[in-house]
Amino acid sequence: MRTYVITGGTDGMGRGLGLHFLARGDRAIAVGTNPAKGRAFLAEAERLGAAERAGFLRADLSTLAGMQAVVAEVEQTADRLDGLVFATQRFQPKREETPDGFEHTFALAYLSRFVIGHALTGLLDRAEAPVVLNLAGPGGMPGTIHWDDLQLRDGYTGMRAAMQASRCNDLLGVDFPRRHPRSRARYVLYNPLFVKTGMADPLPQPQRMVTKAMSWLLAQRVEQAVPPMAGLMDDPPAERVSAFKRAKPLPLTGKDFDPDAADRLHRLTTGLLDR
Ligand SMILES: NC(=O)c1ccc[n+]([C@@H]2O[C@H](COP(=O)([O-])OP(=O)(O)OC[C@H]3O[C@@H](n4cnc5c(N)ncnc54)[C@H](OP(=O)(O)O)[C@@H]3O)[C@@H](O)[C@H]2O)c1
Repeated sequence: MRTYVITGGTDGMGRGLGLHFLARGDRAIAVGTNPAKGRAFLAEAERLGAAERAGFLRADLSTLAGMQAVVAEVEQTADRLDGLVFATQRFQPKREETPDGFEHTFALAYLSRFVIGHALTGLLDRAEAPVVLNLAGPGGMPGTIHWDDLQLRDGYTGMRAAMQASRCNDLLGVDFPRRHPRSRARYVLYNPLFVKTGMADPLPQPQRMVTKAMSWLLAQRVEQAVPPMAGLMDDPPAERVSAFKRAKPLPLTGKDFDPDAADRLHRLTTGLLDR
C-alpha cells in the first residue's frame, strides 16, 4: 500500500487524485481548510471502502504555522511517503497579506510547496519510487517573477500573482535536485491546462461568469484529467525533474527553467523564511 499526501486534496484535481489512489487500495491524506469539504472527502472514501486509508488534515497553507503543522503531522503518522501532490490554489482578486507578512498567493501557491517539499524529502526517500507532482502552469500563460517586489506591493493583480507563483514553481522544480542531490524522488511539474473545478469561484463578476461559461465549453472534467496525472506518478520519467503540458513533455530550457534563476529564488526564499 502506497501513501500519498495531497495539499489541496479536498477539491478539484487534488480530490480526484486522492479518490483515485484510495479506490485502488492506497492511502491518501488530503489537506485543505474547509471542514465540510474534508468530511465530504472522508465520506466518499468510506463509500469506496477506504475509510481506514483516508485522512483529512485541516491546515491553512497560506501560513507558516499551517505548513509546519502539516509537515509535523505527516512525519508523525507516516513512515514513508510514496507521493506528494501540490494542488492548492485560491485566486485572490485583491492583494492580501498573510499573518507572516507574505502576499497570499506567493505563500499559498509557492511557499507552501517550497517548505513542505523540502521538509518531507527524507520521508519520500524511504519509499521505493517516490514522486512529487507539482500542479502549476509550466509552459503555459506567460508570467514574470518580480525579483525586486516578490510580495507584489506595487501593481498587484490576481493574475500577476498567480502567474508569478507558477514561474516560481517552475524554478522550485528545476532546483530540487541541487538541494537534494542524493534523493531518489522524481519531481514532475505538470500543467493540466483548463480543467473544470471550483477555480473560478473566487473571481469577481463578470470574470466568474465568463470563466465558468468557458469552462463548460472548453475545460476537461476532473475524471478525465486525473488518470494521466496518476499515470505519471506511477511511471515518472527517469530524469530527476520533468515538466509536462498535459501529455506533452516540455524541454527544461529557457528562462522559466534557468538554473541560475532557480538558485537565486532559492536563496531569496530561504532569506524570507529566516527573517
Ligand atoms: N483548474 C485548472 O484549469 C488549472 C489549470 C492550470 C493549473 N491548475 C493548478 O492545478 C492545481 C489544482 O487546481 P484545481 O482547479 O483543481 O483547484 P481547486 O478545485 O480550486 O481546489 C483548490 C484546493 O486548494 C485548497 N486550498 C485553498 N486555499 C487553501 C489554504 N489556504 N490552505 C490549504 N488548502 C487550501 C482547497 O481546499 P479548501 O477549500 O478546503 O481550503 C482545495 O482543496 C492548482 O495548483 C492550480 O494552480 C489548475
